[in-house]
Amino acid sequence: MPIGPFKPAPPSDDKRWKIVAGTMRRHGETPNALIETLHTVQETFGFIDKDALRFVAGSLRVPLSKAYGVATFYHHFQMKPKGEHTCVICTGTACYIKGVPELLAVMRDEFGISPGETTADNRVSLLTARCVGACGLAPVAVVDGDVMGKLTASQLRERVGRCVRDDAA
Ligand code: FES
Repeated sequence: MPIGPFKPAPPSDDKRWKIVAGTMRRHGETPNALIETLHTVQETFGFIDKDALRFVAGSLRVPLSKAYGVATFYHHFQMKPKGEHTCVICTGTACYIKGVPELLAVMRDEFGISPGETTADNRVSLLTARCVGACGLAPVAVVDGDVMGKLTASQLRERVGRCVRDDAA
């Protein structure tokens, strides 16, 4: 389908944008879909960043300033955290039963952070999502946009450890 002036392209080829686009479509792609769509961004990405706001605002024909205002007004919405790296652990049912508690334990015990927190050196922020749309790969975490499926505690330790070390170098 051609992309018209009011249909911005998704910020990346991340499949989660399709989930977000689906919410907008179901709500008629009107400004009234704004809050519901921001909920979907939050639930699938774990936070809302500028790219998401631009995509949603453009698609729903809402001024960017309004979308930003709504996203920051409601405490439910989590804006992009301050960590240089983001680790989003999916805590949806499929992921939870496949080992999320172990993943959260790694983040707590090895890196000292719980969901919603950032390491003291601001390197890594930990967030949770409700379902990142990859249940077949459970348990899933998304580190800096990379979807990591069938994730073990040691793989997560290694990946997040790399984020910390790379920045330290
Ligand atoms: S519940 Fe984790 S990807 Fe769906």
